[in-house]
Amino acid sequence: MNSSGNVVVITGGASGIGEATAKRFAAAGWTVVIGDIDETRGRAVAAEIAAGGTRCDFHRLDVSSEEEVERFATTVSTDHGPVAALVNSGGVLQNAVRVTKMPIEEFDRILDINVRGTLLVGRAFATRMVEAGRGSIVNLCSLTTFHPWPQPAYGVSKAGVKMLTEIMAAELGPQGVRVNAVAPGYTLTPAMKARIDRGERDPSTVIARSALRRFVEPHEVAEAIYFLSSPLAGAITGATLPIDCGWLVYTSYSAAAAQPA
Ligand SMILES: NC(=O)c1ccc[n+]([C@@H]2O[C@H](COP(=O)([O-])OP(=O)(O)OC[C@H]3O[C@@H](n4cnc5c(N)ncnc54)[C@H](O)[C@@H]3O)[C@@H](O)[C@H]2O)c1
Repeated sequence: MNSSGNVVVITGGASGIGEATAKRFAAAGWTVVIGDIDETRGRAVAAEIAAGGTRCDFHRLDVSSEEEVERFATTVSTDHGPVAALVNSGGVLQNAVRVTKMPIEEFDRILDINVRGTLLVGRAFATRMVEAGRGSIVNLCSLTTFHPWPQPAYGVSKAGVKMLTEIMAAELGPQGVRVNAVAPGYTLTPAMKARIDRGERDPSTVIARSALRRFVEPHEVAEAIYFLSSPLAGAITGATLPIDCGWLVYTSYSAAAAQPA
């Protein structure tokens, strides 16, 4: 499918799932706009995409800042008019910590980026999509959206993103705007690889608990995001799609299967 003329905005496009998604849309002929707090990597990714012959703009953006998000959305609208798709991949992970030991500043920081950021960017572009009468938004959830993990800030943030996705889907559907989420499993992004290297994630446990016995690759999440953003998913809104190599089903099934039949 060549979607020449369409514009996608991707927050967090400087790395990991966002970067893979930017490259997926560019490969299909979309103009890509990346907003990310990491200026060095963001400019490098935009240059790499542009070298392949597709327009890719980079803007430094902190998604948790209302002022920066409004300025970003205004600039993108001036440059490109209404965008057809938004992907909210800018976000931060968290390591295991008990609730009683959770530093409240860290809780606020993670909620600010993952939930407030998704709301601010979603609100800014949804307003413009409604005016255009069309558009698609894809948010980033997680396995922690569905199950309690010892990540009290991250888990709460990703459960919040699912609810925000559903509220926005209900509100914006009548005006032609679809809102969905993907829930990636353990995905081998730079953020995840760094945690494995530091011993903060155990790869053998992840593999043993996944039905497909492997990690997810960033390009596989990008493929699902691209599908949800495309007319092929024209009847899908309010959904949160796991892309987890079967971690959710296998983990809960194997816990029950450990009991006597
Ligand atoms: N990697 C995984 O296993 C996994 C699993 C489930 C969900 N996710 C989610 O996917 C999204 C992307 O994660 P990733 O693994 O690709 O991580 P990543 O660190 O590789 O990429 C995240 C990007 O977000 C940017 N970012 C961070 N704070 C920002 C801010 N305040 N404003 C703008 N940009 C900001 C970073 O600079 C980075 O480029 C996150 O929302 C994460 O929670 C990741």
